[in-house]
Amino acid sequence: MRQLRTFYIRTYGCQMNELDSEVITGMLERRGLIEVDDELQADLLIFNTCSVRDLAERKVLGKLGQLHRARPDRPVIGITGCMASVKKEKLLEKFPFLDFVLGTNDIHLLSEVVTQVLQGQRVAQTAETFSHELEYDLAKRKDSIKASVSIIRGCNKHCTYCIVPYSRGKEVSRPPKEIIDECKRLVDGGYKEITLLGQNVNSYGKDADWNIHFHDLLGEIDKVVGHCRVRFLTSHPVDITENLMMAIRDLDSVCECVHFPLQAGSNRILQKMHRMYTKEEYREKVHLLKMHVPDIALGTDIIVGFPSETEEEFLETLTAMEEFAYSFGFIFAYSPRKGTPASRWVDDVPKEVKEERLHTLLSLLDQLSQKEASHLMGSTCEVLVESMSAKNEKMVKGRTRTWKQVVFKGDSSLIGTLQNVRIVGSSNQTLMGHMFHDPPL
Ligand code: SAH
Ligand code: SF4
Ligand code: F3S
Repeated sequence: MRQLRTFYIRTYGCQMNELDSEVITGMLERRGLIEVDDELQADLLIFNTCSVRDLAERKVLGKLGQLHRARPDRPVIGITGCMASVKKEKLLEKFPFLDFVLGTNDIHLLSEVVTQVLQGQRVAQTAETFSHELEYDLAKRKDSIKASVSIIRGCNKHCTYCIVPYSRGKEVSRPPKEIIDECKRLVDGGYKEITLLGQNVNSYGKDADWNIHFHDLLGEIDKVVGHCRVRFLTSHPVDITENLMMAIRDLDSVCECVHFPLQAGSNRILQKMHRMYTKEEYREKVHLLKMHVPDIALGTDIIVGFPSETEEEFLETLTAMEEFAYSFGFIFAYSPRKGTPASRWVDDVPKEVKEERLHTLLSLLDQLSQKEASHLMGSTCEVLVESMSAKNEKMVKGRTRTWKQVVFKGDSSLIGTLQNVRIVGSSNQTLMGHMFHDPPL
């Protein structure tokens, strides 16, 4: 049987995939393999893939072809993640040099699958639903200050454009005790910020009989994390409740920041997307949220060029973004995904128009950031220092509770600490600050 000594893992896609890669790394290290960062050297190559847009898939497919030529020594190659779940054994057919395909719900089987491959088999393992067998504790964390904790996998929403319900399956909440214990261990291990992850964290608990909702879970986590910050993403607007808004207001650990994707500003498009809210209903939630948490920062995701989106409908998205004064946002050009309802409609907004709409919204986001920065000027923010600034060795960078990036003078001894920083300037999406020393008592 072949011996594997080293592995290389490359991650595409979202934070859930990043976390899954950390778990995969831990599993392989337990098996005695050593991680290397050179894809030309490793005995085992894993690509943890994303299917959310065509570009994400094309990147991996291109990479596979390129590696096949660059590695005549035939390392073991595996595809994990969302593209594995969606394309399944078809990937093995298309790429004769591929050894295994392991879906998002089968990561716990990785070690067995690698053994089967070493015995000469080619394996495709892609279950529809997650089964609670993944040992998150094994995660080999890349960061020593911020960590992600999975609280719910999958999605039951079925937005008409989205592949995620097919790639990650039905919602499966993780038992509360496991989550709370993991948060406690992370805090004991020195972590200063925890991000709770789910495609829709507000659905937490609905698939189980624990009678614990997301806001209850936040309350329980708050009791064990001390001064560690807690964030969460993502929140589907339909499921965000007043109880959650009050939890953000009342729990010290929970940051005043909600990623609350609008996707589109036109009610006709929202309906075609099956988002299950109108702009007016969304607005009501925003008002309620701002009433409970006046300093809340809102983030969004937007898709431009959804099938049949007119210029007027696009402009409705633009005005909605201005109205909701987003603090951050991610803008995407619509990309048809095979198997989704929207992929059966004509993708009729020309590529150039999608690009133009995308750029218009990106510059709007810049303007909104500048406006927000000018409001923040002279104020003092709590910043968790995350690292040295990449551009200036005398500066450190970190984020406010509202997820604004701040750069200020300081050295590496500040990394991992919370500092009060006075905002004195801004450039692009980054705020410039001065450390604010409390006057002596
Ligand atoms: N669960 C999250 C987001 C998951 S995917 C939520 O519902 O908010 C991240 C983002 O990718 C989505 O919010 C959406 O804006 C974008 N997206 C998903 N499918 C897409 C597609 N087919 N084309 C373009 N963007 C897409
Ligand atoms: Fe996709 Fe919609 Fe689920 Fe988000 S809520 S993951 S956009 S189906
Ligand atoms: Fe994430 Fe991409 Fe899958 S965004 S859930 S890795 S399709």
